[in-house]
Amino acid sequence: MRMPIIAGNWKMYTTPAEARKLVLDMLPALDKVEGVDKLLCPPFVSLLLLKELLKDTSIRLGAQNMYFEVKGAYTGEISPLMLVELCHFVILGHSERRWYFGENDRLINNKIKSALSHKLIPILCVGERLRERESGRAQEVISNQLYAGLSDVATSSEIVIAYEPVWAIGTGKAATSKQAADTIKFIRDTLASIWDGRRAQEIRILYGGSVTGENITELVSQSEIDGALVGGASLRPEEFVSIVSQAAKIKGKSII
Ligand code: PGA
Repeated sequence: MRMPIIAGNWKMYTTPAEARKLVLDMLPALDKVEGVDKLLCPPFVSLLLLKELLKDTSIRLGAQNMYFEVKGAYTGEISPLMLVELCHFVILGHSERRWYFGENDRLINNKIKSALSHKLIPILCVGERLRERESGRAQEVISNQLYAGLSDVATSSEIVIAYEPVWAIGTGKAATSKQAADTIKFIRDTLASIWDGRRAQEIRILYGGSVTGENITELVSQSEIDGALVGGASLRPEEFVSIVSQAAKIKGKSII
């Protein structure tokens, strides 16, 4: 059984004071929801603060990025050794990193391997751009991102994949549940070729891109979709709690 995950990606929003308020606003309700892994990914500068606030709760923390080197003269970068004291997960290969900061698959692969070697759980984001989907190349693009991103990554590695079509991120135009489920099925089949079928069945694959309180139930009703990576709506406490609760309600049945 795959435990569902709802992850909030706060991106470059919230000062530390705002992050504190946001987490305190959602904490009482969020903490109570069972049957789903609940994850918050604030900016680096709020990780320590949130670690303290979330101590003794059921909510886990992730970072939004990291560099692959452990330490050294890399001004402005954050290493896995630093993160592992603060959080359990790290988002890697987000399309905003790929397209605004020029991250390529080779760099992302180095980051994945480095995160795993420090016992951080990477959330590897993959997804096609609009023109790639329109020209029928979505599967090819995603397959290349998976093969390159997971090159030399051991079959047994604990990793989460997020399917985030670039055209759906922050646009209010989410993929339909069928588009998301079909592509996630394709991702699972690709993982079966990279690793093996059994391992592919165990890997949690999330959907991300304009997830809201309105569309989450339909998305997670698809058996292929193991949860969501939520951007904008994770900054609205009531809506985020609603997303997590709806996911728990739909997926909870299958948890033993
Ligand atoms: P969004 O972002 O929910 O605001 O579309 C999702 C993401 O980028 O992870």
